[in-house]
Amino acid sequence: MRLLASPLRPPGAARHGTRGLRVWIPTPAAVTVPRHVPVLGLPRPWTVFTPGPADGLAALVSGWASAGGGTVAVLPDAFTRPCAATLLDAVRHASRGGAPLVLLHTGAGGEGLLRTLRREAPELAPLALEVAPSAAALAAARDLAMTAATSGRAGTGEVAVDADGLACSTSWTRGALPREPPPLRPGDLVVVTGGLGGLGRTVARRLAERLGVQPVLLDHIDPTTSGAHGSLSAMRASGLPFVHLPVDVTDGEAVRAVLRGVTRSKPVSAVVHCAGTIEGGMVRGLEPADLLRLAAPKVEGLRAIMSAADPRRLKVVLAFGSILARAPHRGVGAYALANELLRREVDRLARTAPGPRYLTAEWSIWDGAGVAAETGAVATARLAGYVPIRLAEGLAAVERLLAWRGPGTSVLLSEQPPEGNTPKKGQP
Ligand SMILES: NC(=O)c1ccc[n+]([C@@H]2O[C@H](COP(=O)([O-])OP(=O)(O)OC[C@H]3O[C@@H](n4cnc5c(N)ncnc54)[C@H](OP(=O)(O)O)[C@@H]3O)[C@@H](O)[C@H]2O)c1
Repeated sequence: MRLLASPLRPPGAARHGTRGLRVWIPTPAAVTVPRHVPVLGLPRPWTVFTPGPADGLAALVSGWASAGGGTVAVLPDAFTRPCAATLLDAVRHASRGGAPLVLLHTGAGGEGLLRTLRREAPELAPLALEVAPSAAALAAARDLAMTAATSGRAGTGEVAVDADGLACSTSWTRGALPREPPPLRPGDLVVVTGGLGGLGRTVARRLAERLGVQPVLLDHIDPTTSGAHGSLSAMRASGLPFVHLPVDVTDGEAVRAVLRGVTRSKPVSAVVHCAGTIEGGMVRGLEPADLLRLAAPKVEGLRAIMSAADPRRLKVVLAFGSILARAPHRGVGAYALANELLRREVDRLARTAPGPRYLTAEWSIWDGAGVAAETGAVATARLAGYVPIRLAEGLAAVERLLAWRGPGTSVLLSEQPPEGNTPKKGQP
């Protein structure tokens, strides 16, 4: 995939080499909401897109009007299949003269796609608003949307508004890797999805060597392909105990069936969720199927594993997300969305299935292993401003992140945080 613009530093300022992996914790930063923004000129109603029969939220938004009009996609609290079409229909409508484009949702997400669109078509002023379902939140959302309509700029780009109408964007606080050892013992079963992929197999081997755990590799890659065959042979030759289960992780029934065999004698202790696919494509050329295909291994895959494992016996769930969900370049809208939806799914599980330590690690690009290294994308990424993660420091970080106890359930692993989010003064 070609990297077209840097979200991390201005063009021409690319730095070569690596300077060390840092941990960044997403932190709310207050956003001032301009109140009661007046409509200048003849008001035109906004066009509303919604995936189902208009609910209360969509009905309220149908009263929005501004001088040039605008487009708003209203999504619910979960990203269902129809949400993909709604979002892309709204993008197309905004592109045909219906800007600005606002996404209003109560938890479904979609900001990864809009963030990418901001790089591809800033004139659409894409603005993503996540709101609590309250009158105060909706009033603040309206004022933020009308400000975008008046100024032609989306301002912060992504804002969350709580039930009291208080608005926040994301800034980044420097964190640290845990010092305590991972809560795993020799012999523990660790499911690694995408386990024959570049990072999955490398991480599995590292954990087996360092912690003595037994990796259970789940992957749908044809084991007779040269890469998969080579990794399986190398694992066998190492003498490390492991199990390989060929399965499509999005098939919940099949995942339960294959895991039943290995979990008869002991439960799964940890999940390292690496299954995923990357494909490029400008947002305005994407189809709903593209969004769903990339999201499936990440989101449905994680759901399938969680429904097959016993959450009371699980100690850790570590999901491999991407910096591109937070700082995309042009052409990665579907992948950015898939990784945002993965993070939201991990957050949902942390709320609804307590027990394990949950974490989404949003990695910068890896050098030395993984699809970017294998396809030669690392050099291009470096030129575009992403500082690659050296294999040794990435693997050491994975091991330590298994012990993550918070704050929060996601961290960004990158030399620097995304553009526009400078670390707070006084941070190390
Ligand atoms: N490499 C990086 O620099 C980087 C950076 C940030 C985040 N990540 C994330 O880290 C994870 C691992 O990346 P990677 O570089 O190791 O990629 P990779 O080499 O492509 O490995 C991913 C593996 O997941 C498998 N997979 C995809 N869909 C599946 C499904 N439905 N069921 C079972 N297996 C499935 C793939 O099989 P097929 O190839 O046959 O589809 C592949 O073997 C990905 O989620 C990626 O998004 C990677």
